[in-house]
Amino acid sequence: MSDGTIRDFYSAAPFPGYPPRDSYAALRARAERSTFARLLDEAIAPDATVLEVGCGTGQMSLFLAHGDRLVVGADLTRASLLLAADAARRFGIGRARFVEMDLRAPALRPGAFDVVYCSGVLHHTPDPAASFRAIARLARPGGVLVVGLYNAYARIPHRVRRAVARLTGFRWIPLDPVLRDRAGEPARRLAWLRDQYRHPEEHRHTLAEVQRWFRASGVAYLRTYPSTVIAEPPLERGSLFAPAADDWGFENVLQQVGWSWTLGREGGLFVVIGRAGEPHVPATASTGRTVCHASASSPPSPPP
Ligand SMILES: C[S@@+](CC[C@H](N)C(=O)[O-])C[C@H]1O[C@@H](n2cnc3c(N)ncnc32)[C@H](O)[C@@H]1O
Repeated sequence: MSDGTIRDFYSAAPFPGYPPRDSYAALRARAERSTFARLLDEAIAPDATVLEVGCGTGQMSLFLAHGDRLVVGADLTRASLLLAADAARRFGIGRARFVEMDLRAPALRPGAFDVVYCSGVLHHTPDPAASFRAIARLARPGGVLVVGLYNAYARIPHRVRRAVARLTGFRWIPLDPVLRDRAGEPARRLAWLRDQYRHPEEHRHTLAEVQRWFRASGVAYLRTYPSTVIAEPPLERGSLFAPAADDWGFENVLQQVGWSWTLGREGGLFVVIGRAGEPHVPATASTGRTVCHASASSPPSPPP
């Protein structure tokens, strides 16, 4: 699948989009309803340099861009970045920058970021393992990588739903809570519908597979969210980047099967977290090309 196809796909319905009359307070309230978003925010140092790869319309970047942090949101789709930059301007957020780039040839300095966050993106690239290698280089040695992916088990209920949707010519899509919640927001409903049901490229991954990607890039595995450790107590503030108490393959599989019930209704996305090792081998394509610091209030720069 060419990057032009993916760009066109998301240009038609930038993901996830903003509700009408959105505000910074409403954006923060929405994000804080997510335990994961709160834990992520609490685990990132107040002066960290953060990269969100595949930021879409930029909600997580804007949520994280407070205090002395600098947050760079990068995406292939200019239409999404324009919405992100526009929201940053309306909400008065000056610590977020948005750049147009293909993550497979990142125009960013290797090792430049304390935290690299990439959710809902790698599984839409033709070779997710190679895409992971490309973004792993962007974290500094000792920095943290946070990667959200469709889980091979947890995605099963969604695939059944999608089969029903296709069989009925998309007239009936059963049991999708996001579609139901967005009934009054046509643009965001369409963005979800296309992303979840009509995407031209989708892969699904097990934890064992992602752990292999980590090892190949010298990234130490820390944990998943939700946890694969059975009956692990809820994470405390600031502990999202702490290593899990255990990493037992059998338990990992059992928990992932269980996610079919707990995560399956909303698409089956799980998050894997690791710590970057050293050294980083700079990619030939990205050597010496530093980011174009498009300001949050101006349009992102065209691709090189
Ligand atoms: C499902 S959206 C996720 C957006 C955001 N991360 C979120 O969770 O709301 C996937 C995003 O990945 C971007 N994307 C896909 N392939 C990419 C690539 N090769 N380089 C950079 N961004 C890419 C798309 O443009 C799109 O905005």
